Formats: sequence, C-alpha cells, structure tokens
Amino acid sequence: MVAQTAQVRTSLRGPKSRFFIGNLPEFNGDSIKFMLENRQYGDLTRFFFGPFPVLVINSPELSHEVLMDSLTKWSKPALTLAVLEPIIGNGLFTSEGDFWKRQRKLVQPAFHSKRIGEYGQVMADYSNDLAKEWAGAIGQERAIEKDMTHLTMRIIAKTLFDADVTVEASEVGETIREALALVEEGFRQLFPPPKWMPTKHNRRMKRAVARLDKLIQGFIDARRASNEDKGDFLSLLLQARDEDDNSQMTDKQVRDEAMTLFGAGHETTSVTMTWTWYLLSQHPEVAAKLHEELDLVLAGRLPTLADLHNLPYTDMVIKEAMRLYPAAWSVTRMPNEDVNLDGYLAKKGQIAFINVIGMHHDPRFFPQPKKFMPERFAPEHEKNVPKYAYLPFGGGPRVCIGNSFAMMEARLILATLAQRFAPEVAPGFEVYPDRQFTLKPKYGMKMVIRER
Ligand code: HEM
Repeated sequence: MVAQTAQVRTSLRGPKSRFFIGNLPEFNGDSIKFMLENRQYGDLTRFFFGPFPVLVINSPELSHEVLMDSLTKWSKPALTLAVLEPIIGNGLFTSEGDFWKRQRKLVQPAFHSKRIGEYGQVMADYSNDLAKEWAGAIGQERAIEKDMTHLTMRIIAKTLFDADVTVEASEVGETIREALALVEEGFRQLFPPPKWMPTKHNRRMKRAVARLDKLIQGFIDARRASNEDKGDFLSLLLQARDEDDNSQMTDKQVRDEAMTLFGAGHETTSVTMTWTWYLLSQHPEVAAKLHEELDLVLAGRLPTLADLHNLPYTDMVIKEAMRLYPAAWSVTRMPNEDVNLDGYLAKKGQIAFINVIGMHHDPRFFPQPKKFMPERFAPEHEKNVPKYAYLPFGGGPRVCIGNSFAMMEARLILATLAQRFAPEVAPGFEVYPDRQFTLKPKYGMKMVIRER
C-alpha cells in the first residue's frame, strides 16, 4: 500500500492540451508514442481526452495500489464495459462485484494446470500443421499475423468447443475480430452515438452480435443435446456448480463466458507471437541462442508439455517480447468513489490508465529499455524486476485467468516452429506498432519464410 499523503494535490503534470479537444489528436494519432512519452511527467500524470481529464499511472507502487483495490475502490471504466457488453455480455472480463466473484470461482477450475496440461498436445499438433504449410512456402512472403491468428484461433476453438476449424468456429473468430475492430472505432470517438441510433457502425455491430449469438448457441445446444463431457472448456462451463447453492450457469452466462474466452484467448496470444517473430528476425544472436536450446532439448521432435521446464530461454524470449510489445498495452480502471491516489483526489468515474507499455520501457525498471534482451528474465535477474512494473497479464484479483494457458501455448508454438524456421521481414516492409484493441503491427507483419 502506498502511504496516503495528508496534503492533497489539485493538479497533475501532463502534456500541453488544447481547448475542448484536449490531447485527443495525439492520443488517437500515435497512442503508443504518446503513452511512452507520458512517463516524463511523473508517476501520476494526466492528459485530456477531449475536455475530460484522464489519469495515467506510471509507477509499480501506484499500479499495485489500484489493481489490488480493484474489487472495492476501483472498477473497470463504465465506457469499456458499455462498449464490450454487446459482444461478451456479462462474462468474466466485463462483470463486477459479487457476480464476478461467483463467475471467477466457477470458471477457475477450467484453468487448473492439470486441465490445461491436456491441451498441450493440441497446441503442438496444430503448430506442426502450420510448420507443414511453411515447409511448402520457403522463400515466399506470408502475412505472419494472419498465420498466428489462424493458429491461435484453431487452438482456442478446439480447447473451448472441441471444434476442429469448422466453418462455425472460424466464423466466430472472424466475427469477434470484426466486432472488436468496431469497438476500437467506438473508443476513438469523443461522443459515440447512442447504441439505439441506426448508424452504419451500430447496424454492423448489431449484425455481428446476432451472428455470434447464433453460432455460440449452436455449440451450446449441440453439447446439451449430446450431454457428453468432451473435456473442453464448454463441458466444464456447462457442468460447473456454485459450491454455496449448487446452482449452474444459465445458457446466457455460458454464452457470455464462452465468448469472453474466445475473444480474450486468441487475439492476444496471436499478437504476442507476431511480435516475437519480428524481434527474433531483428536479433540473430538471440535467435541463435534459442535455436541452440531447441536443438539440444528437442533434437527435431515435437515439444511436449514435459519439455517446457527444460526450455528456459524459450520462456525468456516470450517474456521479453511481451515487455517490448505488450498485447494489452494498458489496463484501465475508474474509482467508484473519490479516491486519494498519491495525494491527488481521483474523482469518481474518472478514467485511469495503468501505463503498462510505459513502465515496460522505463529505464528505472528495465535498463537499456529499447534493447531486446531475454536475459532480463533469467531467474537471477527476473527477481530484481519490481513487482507490478511488468504487467503483461495485469495484476491483482483480476489478473488474466488465461496466463498459464497463454504462456504454455506461446512456448509450444515457438518451440515447434523456431526449430525449423527463421522468418525474415519482407524487404521494404514497414513495421509499426499501433494501438488497435491490442498492440498490433499497423500494416500487419509480412515475412519471408526461411529455413534455418
Ligand atoms: C498473451 C496472451 C494474453 C495476454 C497478454 C492477456 C492479457 C490480459 C490482461 C492484461 C488482463 C487484465 C485486464 C484488466 O485487469 O483489466 C486479462 C484478463 C483476462 N484474460 Fe487474458 N491475456 C492473454 C491470454 C488469455 C487467454 C489465453 C485467455 C483465455 C483462454 C484469457 C482470458 C482472460 C479473461 C477471462 C480475463 C478477465 C479476468 C477477470 O477479470 O477475472 N486471456 N488478460
């Protein structure tokens, strides 16, 4: 806990802003640059989203305070919830209070290590399918971000619905991505039109949501009819019982949780892997060390779950990629009441950004922050990283429920593909990080497939 200062600050430092539009043009223009530059104003700063003051938190201590108080004094911003609700309903990501607590308890067992361990085979096998495709595309350019999305979507569809990329599962993926792109458009507007207004944006969103509802309900109906335990997330959601009153989830709750896991569970990992390939292509010395580890431990065979603890460098590469390019570039919160934060009175309802990408690039916590150095995450160094300065999965009670799943998936994908391939950025192709819903390369990631 940060000590509460008796003296109350009435203003905070931050970038110069203009009347009414505030800092909106810079924030919407190049948000990543904007967030990286924000650190210069201090540990707690502000900028103006149009006329509205927004807080930015740049220190591990304050991040810890806000994230740990996320069930009491702070919650997710009303705007985020309103924008996401039509797609993922009242699932884990968007729910609050006692309802969230109950759902988290019901869903958590699905992520127990033994349970997710069973998914390791799927992750390695599906990565190997992509390896076969790449083997037939040596010297060719591929949109790596699409390859990664297709792969992580296949994995989540199989582990969630036991669906091999059926038409339905890919349609869920496509539609969720379309809906999230619409959400992102909404976030950039100062005054988004109300949902009832038949604007082009609202009509597209309505259509996407209707399609998603139909598809997911199809999976639920089929599973209820067969009454089979397929060992996937869906069976677990349908069987889960509240230990207090023995109640189960309604179809609507199962739909919301399934949609949440599908939405949160593939785009983030896909983006992380895309950046990892990019970084490896720019740092041959890191790639060489990774290849050495993979050759030594796997000697050309597919990795299994049991191999992962013998692949520490693979793990370090992914952690360092998530430091430089965190898929969730910020975590947002809002106070439920006026809160004294480091001597500043944060107003009820005011949006606060935990500047994840800013802290990940702060030389106080990561010396030579621009350098891609997986060694930072070697056990003897990782312990020196201040807690809450590195937040790729958030923190506190609302920390990402899928973090072990994601790390296992990322390591198995990398171990399978990097054994044989070393993609290179296509000549002349521009790579630029951009805030979409996640931190993505603005123009995608065109790479030439090369054999090692
Ligand atoms: C590299 C991959 C991933 C990253 C970077 C990531 C990042 C995050 C972050 C930062 C949060 C916290 C958001 C907040 O506090 O406002 C979060 C929450 C969440 N994530 Fe992930 N995530 C990843 C993978 C996954 C996977 C694979 C799943 C599920 C299969 C998943 C499901 C969720 C859910 C359900 C929540 C909400 C948890 C709650 O509030 O109780 N995520 N994720």
